[in-house]
Formats: sequence, structure tokens, C-alpha cells
Amino acid sequence: MSLDLIHKLVMQAQSAIIQSNSINTLESIRIKFLGKNGYLNQQIKTLNNCSSDMRPKLGAAINQAKKDIYTLFIEQQNILKSKNIKKTLITDTLDVTLPGRLSDIGTHHPITNTIKRMKLFFTTLGFSITHGPEIDDNYFNFDALNIPTYHPSRDEHDTFWFDETRLLRTHTSGIQIRAMANKNPPMRIISFGRVYRKDYDQNHTPMFHQMEGFMIDDNINLCHLKKILYDFLYNFFEKKISLRFRPSYFPFTEPSAEIDVIEQKTGNWLELLGCGMIHPKILRQANINTKKFSGFAFGIGIERLTMLLYNINDIRIFFKNDLQFLNQFQ
Ligand code: PHE
Repeated sequence: MSLDLIHKLVMQAQSAIIQSNSINTLESIRIKFLGKNGYLNQQIKTLNNCSSDMRPKLGAAINQAKKDIYTLFIEQQNILKSKNIKKTLITDTLDVTLPGRLSDIGTHHPITNTIKRMKLFFTTLGFSITHGPEIDDNYFNFDALNIPTYHPSRDEHDTFWFDETRLLRTHTSGIQIRAMANKNPPMRIISFGRVYRKDYDQNHTPMFHQMEGFMIDDNINLCHLKKILYDFLYNFFEKKISLRFRPSYFPFTEPSAEIDVIEQKTGNWLELLGCGMIHPKILRQANINTKKFSGFAFGIGIERLTMLLYNINDIRIFFKNDLQFLNQFQ
């Protein structure tokens, strides 16, 4: 090996590079000279056989040679690339009649849309939004709501238990207890969230969404409750639907009621929501003066509302991630 040989290799590489007229040939020249097993790296391997005074000089010369060749390579590559672009600009035509490529735009889930509309209606009336935990306990989900241990309504809830005290909340009513513990009346509160019950059929899924709402103030009575809920429902369905205010029972409201709506297809009354005047026991438990304050509360199934709005007859479709279904809700 000698400086001469290195010089010769550089000359060879230079003329090959300059003459190359395609990116591919240029690349094969690069591999031939600069590749892992290329000519220059082969020279490095022979350095061991050189005398020790020549070795550093030759090493440095090889490195310089590699750099020079690489610089030239990049220059030529740029020249060829811009030539290619110019060529395609001249030869290619643009077919403006071809359909464009649409990118998929995500949409909100129908349940999210319903929640948004509910929020808008109630926050406009001065309700503020609060949240509660999905993993709750006996106390907030049942006891504090006046649902005693052996009360049959506990069975109706078909609860998912973690252990003796912890559970997946079966409704959002525990929010009332938490909110009353933290705030003094007057209060207007709504809350949205997932609730869980062991049920699965066309009208039930083990997880579904509820909205809880309640208001406590001077002299709140059943008329306030009925007016607000009817206004909400007329607004939500955007027409005068037939509603029925039917007496019912919940341990934490007295009197209690349910609101039903007529299902257009079948003409049957369908339960929409539960509500009532907050039981004085619940208010007293939160140290609220029942002589001065009273309140109403309601709980609405969000899936049920959405099903009625869009004429959906199987609740399970909400959770199937079926794009054909979901894409309808822009
Ligand atoms: N928590 C009740 C349910 O899940 C609904 C409800 C809420 C009833 C508030 C009255 C007042 O069925």
C-alpha cells in the first residue's frame, strides 16, 4: 500500500462519480469505494502490514480520501436528484379529475354528544358540574341514601362488589351525598358518569351512563322539578313529545316520581328518568336546615335518552365500536 495507490483510488472514484447518470449507479459506486468492504476500508485493513512510521500518514490519507469521495458523492447526488425532478415536471401530467384522497376525521360518540347537550342546557340554568368516583363504597352508594342493608332496592341494583364494602357505583346518586358534605345550600349541581349493574340485554349493558342533577334552595317544590325536567326533555327532543309524570319510589326522595315518554314505533310508555324531592332525612344528615331549605333530585339514563332521540333499538350498539354506526354521528 502506498500514498500513490490511495491517490489513484480517489481519481478513479472521482471520474466514476462524475460520469454516473443515475442515482442507482451512483449508489453502487459509493458502495464500491466507501462501503463496509469497499476499496478504502480494505486499505485500512492492510495498515497493520505497513511500517510504523508510514502507518499514521497512510491512515490520515485514507480518511481524507473517504471524506473527499463522500463530498463529491453528495454533490453528484444532488445534481441527479434535481435533474430527476425537472424531468418528472416536464413528463408527468396532473389529472385534476381524479378524486382526492379523503382523510378520516374522527367524530364524537353519540353518548358524548348527548352529554354535551345536557351540559349546555343545565349549565345555562346555573347548574355547575361535579364528579364522583366510579369505585365507591357502601356508604355513598347505599347507606347514606337511606337504602338500608336488607332493602330490596339493593337487589335491583345487582351490584359488582370488590369486597364487603367497595363496589362499582350502581348509580350517580352518591354524588348528592358528597356534594352536600362539601357545600352549603343554595346549590345546583349536575354530574355525569359511568355506572355499573349486572345486566345484559337489548336494553341493558353492565356499564352505562347516568346524569345526576339536584337543586337545593329556599322553598323548592315539585313544580320546579317538573318544569325544569319537562323543559329539558322538550328541548332535548326538539319537539313536544308525550310525557307522563308517574309516582314511584326511591328511598332518598319523597315524594318520588318517574317520567315516561311514548315510544313512537310501539306506542308504549318508556321509563326515562327517576326523580323526586330530596328526602328530609338526607338533608338533615348533611346538616341542612329543612325548615329553610328543600330540594329536588333526578337521575337520567343517558343511553336511553340517546336511543330515543335516534330511534336506536339495541343499547349494545353504543359499545361495539362499529364504525358504520358511529360514522353517522358527525
Ligand atoms: N338513582 C336512581 C336510579 O339510578 C335515579 C334517581 C336519582 C331517582 C335521583 C331519584 C333521584 O334509578
